[in-house]
Amino acid sequence: MTSRTLLRLNKANIYHSYHGMQDRDVNLVLQKYKQKMKWCNRHRILDIGCGPGDLSVNYLLPLIPKNGQMLGIDISPSMIQYANFKYKDSRIKFKVMDISKPDIGEKYRLVFNSVFSFYCLHWIQDQWNTMKNIYNVLQSGGETLLVFLASSPIYTLYEILSTSPKWSPYMHDYKDAISPYHNSTDPESEIRNLLSDIGFNVIDCFCSPMSYTMPTKETLYKSIQAVNPFLNRIPQHLLEDYNNDCKTEIMKGNLCVTSEETEEVTFSYSLMTVYAEKPKYVNE
Ligand SMILES: C[S@@+](CC[C@H](N)C(=O)[O-])C[C@H]1O[C@@H](n2cnc3c(N)ncnc32)[C@H](O)[C@@H]1O
Repeated sequence: MTSRTLLRLNKANIYHSYHGMQDRDVNLVLQKYKQKMKWCNRHRILDIGCGPGDLSVNYLLPLIPKNGQMLGIDISPSMIQYANFKYKDSRIKFKVMDISKPDIGEKYRLVFNSVFSFYCLHWIQDQWNTMKNIYNVLQSGGETLLVFLASSPIYTLYEILSTSPKWSPYMHDYKDAISPYHNSTDPESEIRNLLSDIGFNVIDCFCSPMSYTMPTKETLYKSIQAVNPFLNRIPQHLLEDYNNDCKTEIMKGNLCVTSEETEEVTFSYSLMTVYAEKPKYVNE
């Protein structure tokens, strides 16, 4: 591994074991939106950034009518390998694909009735082409429900570590791993304007302050490791040192709050929810 290794999540089993926060938030959002969304007999769903596939299977698959189909895509081959190995259902396929690249908008033009994406779009800097692809793959009248981070203490951690001479050689491109909205003063308007310019009817677009409590500091560290793409680059002999510095900075920089009575730690972040529709009778 070199400092040029792509910033990807490739440890599907670790992510799968430490994504309680993502699981909780996706479930909450779907409880609210599943009744509002339109469903048809041969419904076709795209799930962007499906990761290990469990949220697609646990939460999206039950919503699809019997004759429906779901495609889960992810840029990480190891996530897709894991999902394909673990989940076999004639109504689901998992494929390696990058949602920000133009080929997907062309290959799946007007194919899907709904497009979902959970905890993925903050990984992508090219928001215009990503949202444009979502628009292009939707049928007219199709809907999209997107959940992604606007800001998170993990990004602040990356900002801090990237300034250290010890870690900067491995984190020179840390901005690529930070949500494009992390330092935005008004992410809601930025995203609403982007989607409207592309042609969507934006029904909901809001940024919610959230918090999540983990039982121990150790669980928090593991959950952070599960999504830290720089770990792929840190040489084996420096890994322990890097992880220790992460822990120190998390505690020192007030990136979370530790309970005085229990071992619990709580951290706060802001989450975007977008519910938008491609206008009816648009075939472009
Ligand atoms: C934090 S995981 C979320 C997985 C799952 N949706 C969940 O909520 O548990 C984010 C996923 O987005 C994927 N991803 C990042 N950039 C992507 C891109 N350009 N195209 C497709 N998937 C991408 C990552 O590989 C990763 O598996």
